Amino acid sequence: MKKNKTFLKRVSALSGAAAILLSVCLTGCAQQPAPEPSAEAAQPPLLTNETSVVSDAVPEYVFTYAENQTEDYPTTQGAYRFAQLVNERTQGRIQIRVYANAELGDEQSTIEQLRFGGIDFVRCSLSTMSPYSGMANVLMLPYLYRDADHMWAVLEGEIGQKVADSFVDAGIVPLCWYDAGVRNFYFKSPVSSIEDMKGLVIRVQPNEMMEDMVRLLGADAIPVNYEDVYSAIQQGSADGAENNWSSYDAMQHDKVAPYYLLDEHMRVPELQMVSAVTWNLLSEEDRKIIQECSSASAEYERMLWTAREEEARARVLSQGCTELTLSGEEKKKFHDAMEPLYLKYCENYMDIVEQIREMGAE
Ligand code: GCU
Repeated sequence: MKKNKTFLKRVSALSGAAAILLSVCLTGCAQQPAPEPSAEAAQPPLLTNETSVVSDAVPEYVFTYAENQTEDYPTTQGAYRFAQLVNERTQGRIQIRVYANAELGDEQSTIEQLRFGGIDFVRCSLSTMSPYSGMANVLMLPYLYRDADHMWAVLEGEIGQKVADSFVDAGIVPLCWYDAGVRNFYFKSPVSSIEDMKGLVIRVQPNEMMEDMVRLLGADAIPVNYEDVYSAIQQGSADGAENNWSSYDAMQHDKVAPYYLLDEHMRVPELQMVSAVTWNLLSEEDRKIIQECSSASAEYERMLWTAREEEARARVLSQGCTELTLSGEEKKKFHDAMEPLYLKYCENYMDIVEQIREMGAE
C-alpha cells in the first residue's frame, strides 16, 4: 500500500510536465492532415519484430508493447512501425518488442501492468480505459459523431487532448490515437429491428456503459474479453456481439455470427500509451523521439485502416456473411433508446458533449 501511495505521488508530480509534453505531441498530430489511402500504400510489406530492429547496436533499453490484435491487423502494424522508427531514430539504443495476439494478457490486465511499469507500452480500445478517467466514455457515446472526419476533428483538437491528458494521474501517459472505424452489431440469426433484439444475449467489452447500451435495446449484455468472443458465441453464451468490420473478420466472428447489422452505433478510438514508470526513465530527448514516432505510426495505422476495413467487409461478404441494414425509422429507434446513456455516464461533461455536437453541425 505504502509503495502505491509513493508511486501515485510521483505520477502526480509528473502530470504537469507530461501534460505540456502531451500537448506538444497531440497538437503536433493535429497539424498533420489525415493521409489519403493510395493503391500503392494500401499494401506495404508486413512489418514484424525483426523489421523493427534496424541497428546492430546493443540496445540500452528493450521495452515491451502489448497488443491484442493479430500480427497483420492495422494497430499491430502501427506498433511495428512505431518500434522501427524509434529504433532508427535512437540508432538502436531503444528497442521495442511488440507482443501481438494478447500474448501479454487481455486489455484490462495489460493496462494494469502498464500502470505499474510491468509493461512499457499498450495499445487498447478507449472502452477499456473507462475505469481510469470519467471522460473516457464521452468520446465513445453512441451516435455522437456525424462521421469519421467529425471524430478525427474532435480527437485531434483540444477535446481529444483533454481526454488523453485525463489518464496521466492514473500512471498512463497517452501518446496518440489510432483508428478503429465504426462498430456494428452482429448475430447468429437475422436482426433488423429493435424488436428483434429482445431476449438476445450480446457480448460487450468490459465497460458498464456498453452493458447498459445493450440493455436499453432490450437485450442482455455479457462482458467478455476480446480473445474469448468467438467461443462465447460458438458455445451459446452469447447470441451476438458488436465490433468493426476489421475485428469481425480478423477474429473470424463471421463464422459463428454471420448476420452483420449496419446500425453504426459507436466509434470507439484506440489509444497508444506508455507507462509513467517508463516515461520517468527517459531523457527529454528520448521522450520527444517517442512522441514523434508515435504520431508517425498513427498516420501509418490510419492509412492501413481504411484499406483493411474495405478488404475485411469484402472478404466476409464473399464467405457467406449477410449485411443487414436498418430502415430510417428503426435506426432512429436505436438512436433514441441509447440517449439516456448521455446523462447517466457523462452528466459532468455535457459541455464537452455540446461542443462535440456543434463541431459535427459545422
Ligand atoms: C476492437 C479493438 C480491440 C478490442 C475490441 C473489443 O477490436 O481494436 O482492442 O479489444 O475492439 O471489442 O474488445
